[in-house]
Amino acid sequence: MRLILLGPPGAGKGTQAKLISKKYNIPQVSTGDILRKAVADKIPLGIKAKSYMDAGSLVPDDVVIGIIEGRLRDGDCKTGYILDGFPRTTAQAEALNINLKKMGADIDHVIDINVDSDELLKRLTGRRTCRKCGEGFHLTFNPPKKEGICDKCGGELYQRDDDKEDTILRRFKVYQEQSAQLKGYYSKNGRFHSVKGTGTVEDIFNKIVSVLGA
Ligand code: AP5
Ligand code: MG
Repeated sequence: MRLILLGPPGAGKGTQAKLISKKYNIPQVSTGDILRKAVADKIPLGIKAKSYMDAGSLVPDDVVIGIIEGRLRDGDCKTGYILDGFPRTTAQAEALNINLKKMGADIDHVIDINVDSDELLKRLTGRRTCRKCGEGFHLTFNPPKKEGICDKCGGELYQRDDDKEDTILRRFKVYQEQSAQLKGYYSKNGRFHSVKGTGTVEDIFNKIVSVLGA
């Protein structure tokens, strides 16, 4: 199963991708996570991407398209994957189409998670992520049992550099200007589904499962 998750910053793409990955046994391919790892490792990709990410802007298309082309060739993507945070521009969607054609593959479902911006802002300002295993938490909506410590692996929880209010507002603007139109792009075929992203994480996951099939 090949799946694309669309939605604004904070919609719950990463949270849902982790649950989908576990249930359907396919990898979560998050361009945001790949880029953050490259920044932390201080490799050339990260050095190039950091200023865009800190500003809440998109990293140039050629850079992320290159990342995805490489990642989708990995063995664990043979039976499927969840694209989380890619594509984010029409140029990226078109590059993905070309790449899929070359690999003789197709996208099975595109799920757009929609949440209004007041709720998104609360989700992003309170988000905490484990530095070690990437598990996501929220100070109010999903607090860790012990402050600052990951329930799952005991790793340190941190706040993303781009989760400051002014950068979040810039990310919303960039989403509206460059990414929101992908809903129209993908809704032309029958594989597009819009899912309301408010309610509990489990409620939203159940709605996604009903789209994907048990
Ligand atoms: P990326 O990492 O993809 O960030 P994003 O799209 O802004 O999305 P987020 O990760 O912030 O939100 P999410 O939808 O995953 O929400 P989450 O599940 O964490 O990209 C970061 C940057 O990298 C970009 O700005 C850009 O610079 C660059 N980049 C990445 N991909 C790129 C691309 N393709 N092209 C160019 N540049 C690219 O949930 C958020 C919070 O809410 C968590 O705390 C969670 O616990 C909580 N939560 C989740 N669900 C619920 C719920 N139902 N109720 C209450 N709380 C909830
Ligand atoms: Mg995410």
